[in-house]
Order: sequence, then C-alpha cells, then structure tokens
Amino acid sequence: KISGHPWRPVYHVSPPANWMNDPNGFCFFKGEYHLFYQHHPFSPEWGPMYWGHVKSKDLVFWEHLPIALAPGEAYDKNGCFSGSAIEKDGKLYIMYTGNVWTGPDHDKDLQQTQALAVSDNGVRFTKLAENPVIAAAPEGDIHPHHFRDPKVWEHEGQYYAVIGSKTKTNQGQALLFRSPDLINWEFVNVMAKGEGNFGFMWECPDFFHLDGQDVLVMSPQGMKPEGIYYHNLHQSGYVIGTLNYETGQLSHGPFQLLDYGFDFYAPQTTIDNKGRRILIAWMDMWESPMPTQSCGWAGAMTLPRLLRIKNGQIVSTPVPELERLRENEVYYTQVMVEGELALEGISGDHVELELVIDAQAASRFGLKLRVNEERGEETVLTYTRDDSLVSLDRNRSGQGPGGIRQAEVPLENNQLHLRCFIDKSSVEIFINGGTTVMTARVYPSEGATGIRFFADQPIQIINLKKWDLKHAIIN
Ligand code: FRU
Repeated sequence: KISGHPWRPVYHVSPPANWMNDPNGFCFFKGEYHLFYQHHPFSPEWGPMYWGHVKSKDLVFWEHLPIALAPGEAYDKNGCFSGSAIEKDGKLYIMYTGNVWTGPDHDKDLQQTQALAVSDNGVRFTKLAENPVIAAAPEGDIHPHHFRDPKVWEHEGQYYAVIGSKTKTNQGQALLFRSPDLINWEFVNVMAKGEGNFGFMWECPDFFHLDGQDVLVMSPQGMKPEGIYYHNLHQSGYVIGTLNYETGQLSHGPFQLLDYGFDFYAPQTTIDNKGRRILIAWMDMWESPMPTQSCGWAGAMTLPRLLRIKNGQIVSTPVPELERLRENEVYYTQVMVEGELALEGISGDHVELELVIDAQAASRFGLKLRVNEERGEETVLTYTRDDSLVSLDRNRSGQGPGGIRQAEVPLENNQLHLRCFIDKSSVEIFINGGTTVMTARVYPSEGATGIRFFADQPIQIINLKKWDLKHAIIN
C-alpha cells in the first residue's frame, strides 16, 4: 500500500515505490485511459527501465497495475525506454526503445532500437518476435546511437512514428517514419531540426493535429537561458505548423514552452473517445534534488491537461473531470487586500483555489502557498506590474531545490485569473485560462498549510473559491 508519507501526492500519479520518470503509452483503450511510465522497480534512483502502469476510467481516479514491460531481450537488456501506444485490430501495441549499453560511457556507448509489444487486454504484454522493428538509425546527418522515444499515430491508413534524435554535430531533431503494419518501417525524412539554441538532443517527440494545425512537441536537452526563459536543465515545448506527409517535412513557427515552472518534462499526449487532446508530463526535472528518495520513492505526473490552440499558442487547462475531486467548497467575494491577509477556511496541502484578482493600482501582489510561519516556509507567486511578470519563488518552500521561474503575462481588463492545484509536494498554477502554466515540486514541512494574499496597494479579490481535493489513487 502506498504510504501516507507527507510528500506523497494524494491526487497525482506517483509510483507505488521507487523511481518514476517519463509518461509512456498514454492512450484510451477499450473505454479506459492507460498510462505507463518509465520505472525502476528496485530503487528510488533511475536504473534499468521498466514500464510501470496505471489506468483510469475518468482521468481522475487511478488504479495501479502490474509492471507492463521489463528489460531482458538482447535488444532491450539494459532498459525499455520511452515510447507510445496505439490500438490496431482491437489489440494494444506499445512501441518503445530498446536500450543496450555497449560500454561504460552512457552518452557514447549505447545502441538504441525500436521494438513492439502487444496486448489483448491492455495489461499483459508480449514482445514481438520481429523485434527490433527499427534496428538502426537512418544514414545521413543523424547520430547513430541517440535514437529513441517513438510516438506512433495513424494517418490515412498508414502508421507514422516520430523519433527523437540529434545530428552528428549535436543539434536536436525529430525523425519521421512510415509503416503499413507497425512492423515494417521506412524512414521518410528529418521532420524538423533545431538550429542555434534549440537543444543538443530532442527527447520524447510527440505529433498531433489540433484545431486545424499540426503540432510537434519535443523535449530539447540543454537549451541555454535566454532572458527569463529556459532556466531549467532541459525544456519541453512545441512548434505549430503543417506536415507535408509526402516529403516528411514540417514547416513551422517558433518554439514555445508548454510550462514555465520548474518541473515539467517529457510530456506525452493522447486523443480520447471525445476527440480531446490530453497531455501528461513528468512533474520533475533531471538532476534536480528529489528529497522523497530518502523515503523510498521519486517522481510524479502532472495533472492531465486539455490542449487547445488559441491565437497561435497552446492553451492548457486541467481536464474538467478533475472537478470530481472537489469537496468542502469555501467561497469569498469582493475581498480587499492590502498588506498581507489570511482568510478563514482558506488553507490546506491538497486543495484547489480558483480566483480572479482585480489589480486596481497595485504594482506588486500575489499569493503565498504552503505557508508555515514558524519555520518561515512559503512558496510565493508574485505579479509585478511594471514588467508584467509572474514569478514563482520556491527559495523558502522547504527542503529540496529553490529558485525562481518567471513568465510574461499581460493582465486582462486589469485582472489576473488563477487556478492553483496544491498537492503534498507540488503546485500547478494555471494563469488566465491556461495561456500560461507554472508547475513546481516543493517539499515543505507537514504543518505548511497556510495560504496568504498580499498586495503593496489595495487589490480586490473579485471572487475566490477553495476546495479540498479527494484522494484519487487506488492502491
Ligand atoms: C527522457 C528520457 C528519454 C528516455 C528515458 C529513459 O526523460 O531520457 O529520452 O527514453 O528518459 O528513462
């Protein structure tokens, strides 16, 4: 049974024990959502990768299932790395990267190939005898070994896969493959390639059609900071464009981030029976300290987010089903704040807050979450008027890594709309209807349940709702 450790999320997916990273094989199959994940079942550190597995009827309440994939064949003996899922002839196929270390240097000595496993019921998987189905990276300006994370989809009766790659001179790129049957694959083209500060390798690409346009999502490793952006070790974002399925090339606009916080990586999407494009990401970042490792586990998933394109950018909102988690509503209207204010009934460490702030003449205002006054702990979201920046500050959050992340957010009618999801060791903040999202892991003390509002000049909270959120993970 999952322990009630103080940092264990109550409504975010986390591993039953030990290590979790990327979401894998996210799909809607036979009436249920399945989510797999990179998992090391024997240690809270990364190691030989297995695929852990959870499923849900509604994207809210999740049930743990047995491990779906384990390394062991010649082509995946050192790990079943990230990949995706697709339904074909009533069966669920997962396409993943077989990882083999060919020497001691994990950056240079590796062989990565693409493999398939199949299941009738979505729970028990058998690897195909034809594996690996893509035995080597293609020729050309393509690194022969860093070749991973296939995302597969169907288009006009053919299967396509986009695979993460880099050039021989360390520019990230995405490769497009085509297949009539998921087993025989031909290389079509380099679908998109980074130039300049666009990462030395693109991990976990995803591709989909949304609101009339094509979207390529990728997780570029090691982009350098530019102004207030790209301060995490790695980034996750997207470009919007049009894929020419004949040439295999994507013409596209600029790179944009999917999340402006600290802990959001390797997102993967699926489409469900309602035609909705839904995204989940790993709610952590490589090489960030993870204090829960000392409690025997590490890693969590973001909430499932519904994607739309508006005004040339992706807007992400929590899926509406998450309202089922709400209980004990507390409601305030027309609250003036100057200085710092706590409101009765507004506190907690697994809650949702929804509020609209009229900034009036204030030049600096915001919210403190997970406050423990005695210990001086707080996680602070501040809006500053002169530069139109939202800042998320976790320098006094508790244990774990600190830092500040920022995003430029214009006020709408002088107002700021916020939806904040607070869980035992995370905050996810959806700003102005999901045009900007900031996600962070935080590791406060158990008593850190305070919530405060602050402003240097009067602001008005036009309305504020708070709900406790239920436990959603079934052991
Ligand atoms: C991304 C990643 C993938 C790889 C997996 C290994 O976080 O590095 O590229 O398949 O994790 O666990």
